[in-house]
Amino acid sequence: QITALTAGSIGKDGYRHYMEKELHEHPLVIGQTLQRMIDPATRKVVLPDMPFDLATVPRAVITACGSAFYAGMVGRYWLEEIARLPVDIDVASEMRYRNPPLTAGSLGLLISQSGETADTLAALRSLREKAIHILSVLNVEHSTMARESDVMLGTVAGPEISVASTKAFTAQLTVLACLTIATARARGKLDPLGEEELVAALMDLPSRAAEVFNQGDAIRRMASIVAEARDVLYLGRGSMFPVAMEGALKLKEISYIHAEAYAAGEMKHGPISLIDRTVPIVASVPSTPLFDKTLSNLQEAKARGGRLLVFTDTKGAERVSAIAEQMVVLPHVHDFVAPILQTIPVQMLAYEVAVSKGTDVDQPRNLAKSVTVE
Ligand code: G6P
Repeated sequence: QITALTAGSIGKDGYRHYMEKELHEHPLVIGQTLQRMIDPATRKVVLPDMPFDLATVPRAVITACGSAFYAGMVGRYWLEEIARLPVDIDVASEMRYRNPPLTAGSLGLLISQSGETADTLAALRSLREKAIHILSVLNVEHSTMARESDVMLGTVAGPEISVASTKAFTAQLTVLACLTIATARARGKLDPLGEEELVAALMDLPSRAAEVFNQGDAIRRMASIVAEARDVLYLGRGSMFPVAMEGALKLKEISYIHAEAYAAGEMKHGPISLIDRTVPIVASVPSTPLFDKTLSNLQEAKARGGRLLVFTDTKGAERVSAIAEQMVVLPHVHDFVAPILQTIPVQMLAYEVAVSKGTDVDQPRNLAKSVTVE
């Protein structure tokens, strides 16, 4: 079914909702986006010509709305850690009025599926006024933001019909991963072997992403617990924190269950007081360097009666199984790409919860696909 899909076909192709169809397009859109950005002969990231030099930009300012903002948060972890580029990030509705002091020649990194979101467009214009270079990561390539950017990097996700973003998000992450590699190389922070390793991790992703769909039954078991809850806490650390935020947003958007995402290490400063049997804890804990730290945060939650629903990977499964009530085991992948893979099941969980609650999955109340007013 997956290989028969073309991201871009109009219609549900036999799926119950556009969102379900678009979730199944994750492997395809990651692959198509990589094809656009990686030269198959050299296996190197190739970006379009840019009127600025990634080697010398002093700072990046990332801004976006909704899911695209969480993609930007993952991008911040990557750009800081791998490319050693200082990053500031804020939601566009704040950034447009914030007036941060910026050195001319900094890089404004705008992320948007539609390229038309009013706040993101206004933030773009306010950054441009400060002589900031504008690089946009967009799915709609003939959009207003595309026209007003110095450079556009396209996500090859095809049309996204469901109001809640799914495949556009993983495509945005794929582009940001490639941008990170190119930036790190330009700044002398990544040697050819390092680039080879990260590119190999990315190229491996479409097949690993396809394997996530084997976990449907485990995800539905989790969904049956979440669907009964009034409040849900999502936890993650490092680049898994924005994945938790994306999971919580998706659940709120389409199932109308209150969800809050926290950096797992911050739980002890507040949300731990919420924990009891009625507030399930959904945690994204693949076996990255923060695995042990996150696990000990989860143990603290469990000791207070918390029910743990954990997304992990084959390497982490044994230790997670000792404390989790339910777990979903994904293939083990390189730390770098783990947030891309881990996003897929948290979005699937929200979908399954919404289906079991019978909400209007593709058209949730009060939301629009593209918010073109302030
Ligand atoms: C709306 C949608 C979200 C989306 C956000 C940003 O709120 O419901 O799914 O993430 O806009 O949209 P953009 O097109 O800028 O990515």
